[in-house]
Amino acid sequence: MRTALVFGASGQIGEALLARLDPSQWQVSAVSRTPRPPSSNVRWLQGEFAGIEGLPDSVDVIFSTGPLDGFAQWYARGQVATTRVIAFGSTSVDTKQASGDAYERDIVARLQAAERLVFETAETNDAPATLLRPTLVYGAGRDQTLARIAAMARRIGCFVLPRGADGRRQPVHVDDLAAAALAVVDAPATYARAYALPGGETLTYREMVARTLAALDPPAKLWQVPMPMFRGALSLARMAGMMRGLTDDAVARMREDLVFDATPARNDFGYAPRAFIVDRRAVGS
Ligand SMILES: NC(=O)c1ccc[n+]([C@@H]2O[C@H](COP(=O)([O-])OP(=O)(O)OC[C@H]3O[C@@H](n4cnc5c(N)ncnc54)[C@H](OP(=O)(O)O)[C@@H]3O)[C@@H](O)[C@H]2O)c1
Repeated sequence: MRTALVFGASGQIGEALLARLDPSQWQVSAVSRTPRPPSSNVRWLQGEFAGIEGLPDSVDVIFSTGPLDGFAQWYARGQVATTRVIAFGSTSVDTKQASGDAYERDIVARLQAAERLVFETAETNDAPATLLRPTLVYGAGRDQTLARIAAMARRIGCFVLPRGADGRRQPVHVDDLAAAALAVVDAPATYARAYALPGGETLTYREMVARTLAALDPPAKLWQVPMPMFRGALSLARMAGMMRGLTDDAVARMREDLVFDATPARNDFGYAPRAFIVDRRAVGS
């Protein structure tokens, strides 16, 4: 029996990881800020990074599937001994580096610092770390992009995009990320390395949204309008307190390719993500 400590275990990736940690092989401690009932092989610990009750002295593997900056600082304090660390970051470290939005650049800077701290701490502790950087995550019906689009389209029966939203995307399913986290555990080639984890299909932003809308019951319509009209409507929506998360930079990125190479992950741990298939769960039904 192996032991694991999972941060962010209630999140969309964490939940998929817990489901993959076979009770006949893994004894799991999972951290949440909210009290949760135990299950067959999962003991929930309550707390924030600054104070978690009942942490084990040591575990075989620590998985971080929540905020990387909080995890990196917690790990550097050395409260739990381990010989292996697997942590999720984001491909945003590459795609948002030159964003015109100061908030996005700050997130990138924090992610980069957190990645560095995880690798430095792991090296000091002689516990190899692997960083996994997903592209746009979907599948659990609670992501910030497609599930949100689905929720809005369900309310109003349609969704509007600016014309030319043809930047390529590679949405990645939460379960493929959970499988990747487990696949790297015993893969020495992945020690002290970071991997982009794109989904198994590359498609345009418009096609990604169209497929999401088609999965709704009833399906919602996709309208495309000229960019100036879209920006005008977005300004009005923001004034009404809506769509504040959709920044001008995020709109501009709809026309940009955000594409990553899965070859290193495929070669080092057999990463084989699925094509982009949107089922009812992915759209929160
Ligand atoms: N979502 C995406 O599209 C995407 C894309 C690329 C990379 N990623 C990365 O993948 C990882 C997981 O993403 P996710 O969207 O599944 O997770 P998430 O929802 O951001 O967080 C997962 C869990 O972490 C806990 N958590 C959140 N904020 C916390 C805080 N301030 N302090 C302590 N715990 C906190 C929450 O659990 P409790 O409420 O139970 O405490 C939450 O359910 C993150 O590192 C993220 O950067 C996500």
